[in-house]
Amino acid sequence: MRQKIVAGNWKMNKTLEEANILATEIKGMVADEVKGSAQIIFCVPFPYLLTLKNLLGNGARITLGAQNCSEHESGAYTGEVSASMLKSLGIPFVILGHSERRQYFGEDGKLLAKKVDIALKHGLTPIFCCGEPLEVRESNGHEALIKKQVEESLFHLDQATIQKIVIAYEPVWAIGTGKTATSQQAQDMHVVIRKHLSGKYGQAVANEISILYGGSVNAANAKELFSCPDVDGGLVGGASLKSREFTEIIKSA
Ligand code: PGA
Repeated sequence: MRQKIVAGNWKMNKTLEEANILATEIKGMVADEVKGSAQIIFCVPFPYLLTLKNLLGNGARITLGAQNCSEHESGAYTGEVSASMLKSLGIPFVILGHSERRQYFGEDGKLLAKKVDIALKHGLTPIFCCGEPLEVRESNGHEALIKKQVEESLFHLDQATIQKIVIAYEPVWAIGTGKTATSQQAQDMHVVIRKHLSGKYGQAVANEISILYGGSVNAANAKELFSCPDVDGGLVGGASLKSREFTEIIKSA
């Protein structure tokens, strides 16, 4: 179902104590100040999922996501975390295909298709990331690359299942660089993605899919980005680690 979503991607940051403080602060600010109905998600390191789940409580405005999961069901895969483990903790979301996973851990479209399948099999909602590096944008190959990334990892899904996916468009040149896509660039790419989904699944289905923007979202630019008709919220890295700033971003959704 299409909805406004603001997801914080904490990446590999914070000690447990710091994570508790951050989550407690944002929870309090959200309870006091946030009127809208946007879904708020903290995508936190694996070791903190259960503690933060207890801290946030059931039925809270804020829910949790993991930042990755294994493509395997279970077994001898030292250091990996499976989708069924996340499900057993009651974690509803998982980020898949973040550009850092693609770049540093060699995750490609085929592998990500497997991760998408196993996450869905266990009832998790994938937040599937796509995005082009700077050189691809500069050589004008960004539309083709994004379509390819979406096709390779998602187009095997049927009409009913694709609607369970959240997509995050995150241009790699905007991640952690302080260089945000303009709202026009974001809107244009979200339209490219939605049209591509519509071509395969029909407009009604494409209209049901939330497409988030990610890449240097902050309190100053969130409102303009989130007001674009095809931008359904954001996936926020650096700015999700500061309680006041992240709360302001949530209020912009
Ligand atoms: P950033 O990260 O907001 O720090 O640019 C976004 C992301 O990587 O999801």
